[in-house]
Amino acid sequence: YPIFAQQNYENPREATGRIVCANCHLAKKPVDIEAPQSVLPDTVFEAIVKIPYDTQIKQVLANGKKGGLNVGAVLILPEGFKLAPPDRIPAEIKEKLGRLSFQSYRPGKDNIIVVGPVPGKLYNEIVFPILSPNPDTNKDVHFLKYPIYVGGNRGRGQIYPDGSKSNNTVYTASVTGQVKKVVRKEKGGYEITIDNSSENREVIDIVPPGPELIVSEGESVKADQPLTNNPNVGGFGQGEVEIVLQDPLRVQGLLVFFASVLLAQIFLVLKKKQFEKVQLAEMNF
Ligand code: HEM
Repeated sequence: YPIFAQQNYENPREATGRIVCANCHLAKKPVDIEAPQSVLPDTVFEAIVKIPYDTQIKQVLANGKKGGLNVGAVLILPEGFKLAPPDRIPAEIKEKLGRLSFQSYRPGKDNIIVVGPVPGKLYNEIVFPILSPNPDTNKDVHFLKYPIYVGGNRGRGQIYPDGSKSNNTVYTASVTGQVKKVVRKEKGGYEITIDNSSENREVIDIVPPGPELIVSEGESVKADQPLTNNPNVGGFGQGEVEIVLQDPLRVQGLLVFFASVLLAQIFLVLKKKQFEKVQLAEMNF
């Protein structure tokens, strides 16, 4: 969950560029982000994050039963950009937002926004309404090109913040030996007794409800060899786009330049016509 990241990591983007959700959501799946190529200052625009997956598939839930997937995302905007206040969001963007509740990653970090978990069936496309900063009033921002980073996830993670495994991952043998006994527990899950004859001891590996067993009694296993399948059908992905904070004066300047080029061209043509007339007159005499 995004809250796990908020509680455990000061900054959701590590120095390597990796977004911290990946530390617990181990499978990699694609995400996509769309944003305008450039925006004017103090303007509301939308960034669209897509977290595609087959919405028909089910995953194992914490109780071992099957259910749908949820999605969540973290959006890392340039300094000064932030979630647009509700009274600034135009009606046509408001319609696309649904009932999502966006949060800042932590107090004072308004440029980092998290959302989720929310049902993936409804929100595999998430629209973030964003307000661009104004360099005239905020001296820390400049008219430049900036990166926007996004991390998006569907499905449950593999590791809890305390380091323990969730039931949405592979369980492996803790020692080398022979599978002596497999007990299926009443509420699901297994107790697997592995007989490690070389060290003369027995180890019981516990598999919670969820993953399916792929070994049987009598089989030999090596340490770290999978005892179960990998039930995880979800995954995390990250992406980035670039956005230009555009100075309106520069756009106006460009238009003035275009107009002057156009005029110069016209005057050159007129001059040529005039010159041709003089040539004609000279030929006549
Ligand atoms: C569950 C997103 C960071 C561990 C989820 C779910 C979402 C999500 C959407 C619900 C999935 C579902 O129910 O189908 C994110 C995002 C993160 C993030 C966007 C980064 C901003 C983390 C981190 C950890 C973690 C850092 C580990 C410390 C888990 C676990 C679950 C989970 C264990 C399953 C919980 C359960 O059902 O018992 N996450 N997550 N997540 N997340 Fe994350």
